[in-house]
Amino acid sequence: MHRIVARTQLSPNVTRLDVEAPRIAQIRQPGQFVIVRRAERAERIPLTIADGDPVAGTISLVVQSVGKSTRELVALKAGDEIRDISGPLGMPTELIARGRALCVGGGVGTAVVHPIAQGLHRNGVSVVSVIGGRSKEWVIFEQELKRLGEVVVCTDDGSYCRKGFVTDAAKELLAAGGIDIVYAVGPVPMMRAVANLTKPFGVHTIVSLNPVMVDGTGMCGGCRVEIDGETKFACVDGPEFDGHKVNFDLLADRLSTYRTQEQEAAARCGDECRIGLKH
Ligand code: NAD
Ligand code: FES
Repeated sequence: MHRIVARTQLSPNVTRLDVEAPRIAQIRQPGQFVIVRRAERAERIPLTIADGDPVAGTISLVVQSVGKSTRELVALKAGDEIRDISGPLGMPTELIARGRALCVGGGVGTAVVHPIAQGLHRNGVSVVSVIGGRSKEWVIFEQELKRLGEVVVCTDDGSYCRKGFVTDAAKELLAAGGIDIVYAVGPVPMMRAVANLTKPFGVHTIVSLNPVMVDGTGMCGGCRVEIDGETKFACVDGPEFDGHKVNFDLLADRLSTYRTQEQEAAARCGDECRIGLKH
């Protein structure tokens, strides 16, 4: 069992859970994730390790409540326990050792960019982050990223900082030159747009893919994605891949496969989710 030591609401539907997981806190690396099972028969949810404290033995998980299982997870309070957390899973981020990196985070994807920026900063790389949200209350991890380098904040409606998509600010930084690599995490249209943007500049671009996952160990095939015409499993070969080689059409299509069932489950969940359904 893993005790929740802190619960923080980051945006209207994004919650940070700091959870006891001492072994994972010691060995996790940027880009890795865990699979969380709230209770014995609950759904398995893949979540990136957004931060961690090896001394306190805790890891930080950032959960966007979009369906039944994630709503049940964020209904937990500090002091409650999570049944299983397996990990760290996936390949660590390919971090450069010198130069200047552009980290682009869209919405909840900003939490996934954070450990990457931490790793780059530790390597002595100059980090500039461009992060965005629909409006001010959807911007997350701004202060944490400011500790690691320059941060440009964008909001779609202009309610905070710069108006526009993250790609607008990223384009200007790329045009100014001096960017050696780009890491982009967020919704699929955003990652596709960033990859299209960086291609003419010839800047290597790494994106973090979020297909449906089940076992997280390469056995079920649920997380398959197409990279440079080849099938890969995001859980063991990724989740990060060369953005210029990803088949984004296939990824978007596979992400919508279970939309009807997900909507039905969320509708059935109703009040039970809000009070923390027990299986
Ligand atoms: P959102 O839709 O609010 O978008 C966040 C920001 O991304 C926007 O403010 C904008 O700056 C940028 N953006 C969005 N669409 C864009 C486009 N077409 N072109 C350029 N920029 C664009 O994001 P959200 O609601 O926080 O995120 C939800 C999505 O992120 C879900 O689909 C979820 O599956 C995905 N997600 C991905 C990962 C990952 O590892 N890639 C992790 C968590 C969530
Ligand atoms: Fe089953 Fe990746 S989640 S193979």
